[in-house]
Amino acid sequence: MNSRLPILYDKKPCYDIVFATDFQDLLSELKAFDIENRRICVVTDSHVSSLYGEEIMDILNGNCIKNVLYAFTAGEEQKTLTTVNDIYAFLIQEQFDRKDLLIALGGGVTGDITGFTAATYLRGIDFVQIPTTLLAQADSSIGGKTGVDFDGYKNMVGAFYMPKLVYMNVGALRTLDDRQFFSGFAEIMKHGLIKDSLFYEWLLDHMYEINDRDTDTLLEMVERSSKIKKLVVEKDPTEKGDRALLNFGHTIGHAIEKYKNFAMTHGECVALGMVAAAFISWKHEWLSMEEYYEIRDMFVPFNLPISLEDIEPEEILKLTKSDKKMEGNSIKFILLKKVGKALIDRTVTDEEILNAISEIRYVEDYE
Ligand code: GLY
Repeated sequence: MNSRLPILYDKKPCYDIVFATDFQDLLSELKAFDIENRRICVVTDSHVSSLYGEEIMDILNGNCIKNVLYAFTAGEEQKTLTTVNDIYAFLIQEQFDRKDLLIALGGGVTGDITGFTAATYLRGIDFVQIPTTLLAQADSSIGGKTGVDFDGYKNMVGAFYMPKLVYMNVGALRTLDDRQFFSGFAEIMKHGLIKDSLFYEWLLDHMYEINDRDTDTLLEMVERSSKIKKLVVEKDPTEKGDRALLNFGHTIGHAIEKYKNFAMTHGECVALGMVAAAFISWKHEWLSMEEYYEIRDMFVPFNLPISLEDIEPEEILKLTKSDKKMEGNSIKFILLKKVGKALIDRTVTDEEILNAISEIRYVEDYE
């Protein structure tokens, strides 16, 4: 029996997350949405299509009016209005109307694009998330953020639009390459650090099982992480306040991502951003020195970087300030008051940021 987690929106039940280890129960979950009277378009990318496209289409065959698959070329650079445009054209050609359904099958890029297409096609049609990467399961499929990049700015155009269902098959995590797996893991670690010190300790205690991708451990990890994200997004669905806590590590992380021209994964950059933010939290005397070093070193067994060669602190600072998390002149920085409790701080100075970036700059030891 799969477990499920209801997500509320405006204090009312909105959609369920189903946690599973395969796709066996997907059809019965979808049948709750009257799919026999609907067309379904599975939107995915070229990579995930070759892994799971056929399996999902086989599940749908004969169970809806018709099912079609739209696969765009895999890659973050596809997260644009052009791809959305192409999907609109495909849906029109396939005569999709307002009662039909989209399924986002894949990682964060697929979920964001499909969600935004669903939010805007005919002023909104239903969509279901089937996240297949850890980044999408841990973060982007929960909470209704959808959108695309625009003119070099990440997630600049978008909408808050809730799915009807999120079906998380942790079995899909087995086909992820290591870099992608640990990229998603950074967001899981973030959830422990900002809200739940017991979960953070549990992650440390299960380091080997997580590295082995033991199914039961992954299931518990994704479920506990989702419960933390649920609490945050239910309280502040449209990021007017505390949802910003989820941006812990993202202010400097996004700047590094841009600086490195997206050659590093999101999670790698966020891990570096979290180390920098934990460093500032130590300098504010909220974390002890031991806690700071434990947080920093804890990324190592999960293949996440804690330092980086070739970064210019001034450049990263400039990029940090051009991030859309700026409000007026102050940066909304997320720091740790203690392990398991984050807060928003608007007082972080340029000098503190430069020091933190210098801290993560790799300098070779000389003898
Ligand atoms: N990824 C941050 C959020 O969902 O708000």
